[in-house]
Amino acid sequence: MPLRTIEELPMRGRRVFVRADLNVPLEDGAIADTLRIDEALPSIKWVIANGGRPVIASHLGRPKGGRDPKLSLRPIAEYLGEVLHVEASFAEDCVGDAVREQSRALGPKQVLVLENLRFHPEEERNDDAFSRELASLCDVYVNDAFGAAHRAHASVVGMVPYVADHGMGNLMKKEIDHLTPLLGSPERPYIVILGGAKVSDKLGVIRSLLQRVDALLLGGAMAYTFLAAQGVNVGDSRTEPDRFDTAREILDEAKKRGVNVVLPVDHVAAPEISPEAMTQVLGPDIPAGFKGVDIGPATIRRFGNEIAHAKTIFWNGPLGIFEIEPFSHGTFAIVEEVARSGAFSVIGGGDSAAAVMRSGMQDDITHVSTGGGASLEFLEGIELPALRALAS
Ligand code: 3PG
Repeated sequence: MPLRTIEELPMRGRRVFVRADLNVPLEDGAIADTLRIDEALPSIKWVIANGGRPVIASHLGRPKGGRDPKLSLRPIAEYLGEVLHVEASFAEDCVGDAVREQSRALGPKQVLVLENLRFHPEEERNDDAFSRELASLCDVYVNDAFGAAHRAHASVVGMVPYVADHGMGNLMKKEIDHLTPLLGSPERPYIVILGGAKVSDKLGVIRSLLQRVDALLLGGAMAYTFLAAQGVNVGDSRTEPDRFDTAREILDEAKKRGVNVVLPVDHVAAPEISPEAMTQVLGPDIPAGFKGVDIGPATIRRFGNEIAHAKTIFWNGPLGIFEIEPFSHGTFAIVEEVARSGAFSVIGGGDSAAAVMRSGMQDDITHVSTGGGASLEFLEGIELPALRALAS
């Protein structure tokens, strides 16, 4: 069955389950970055404007199947009420008689926000009874949670067959529309920038990308694994020694395919991971007693040179320990380079997307994706469980 979009679904007088990805960072109980919520607004507004009654659901963090007050969706419900200018009521749970009653009592211009789906272990287990419970809260199902589209969970997959009218929301469609060209024959040179802590998280996508890209620019802690695997001294930097062989295999494969792998040639290094730490630019080797925490100025220039010539750019993962301000400069410098490049650019993943928003340069990026793992799996060519479910 072809995927239906939100515009093709009946709305008037219907309770519409909107599965959004409202998994936003919280600091001391306050929302630290509203990007994911703001991106979910067009679908919710569409439901309201067309006479539907939104029942909004999401996971938040990884509460490991139990209640954790720090991961309640209540602050998100309050924010939604403010920005939508509607009455947003909050359900203390996401299943059960009380919440079903609340969903039935919804009137025009009212929304109901459910408590964190992951407070029930059945959500991640894709439990059938739990899926039916969720389905009993609605007449129509909209999946707008691109960030969770790679999770075969009850609210993403299990409940879909129990709601005959189902389809994708505006954000889901926008994400797919922007990521799909990267799987075909994007304009070349096509370069991919990957950062973040672990090589192991990105092995699948790297292998798949080697068949399609012209250059792979690697930063973040994962770059130290590649450097150490080639015998470069990386001091006390974080590495994954059990991935050294894989890193060497990837570099060999890249060489065979003519893919230019660009690794850091210098680093911002510090004796400890702390905002007060004294930093030094070192490289290519890092002596014992120092950890690499960001890419250095010569690396920024090398990356910048590749970016300036690129016609298509995909980027996932920060290039340094971005949460600590003195270690975030490399990531911001590369946002600037990508913004200036004029290339078709897609930047995804929590930290890299946050860097774009904080830089204020989002209008110069073709698409800022709300998906981290989801965009990587999509680019790897894996059919996302959410899309498979919606197509059935
Ligand atoms: C994300 O932050 O990438 C999504 O919200 C999915 O969260 P998860 O990795 O905890 O499933």
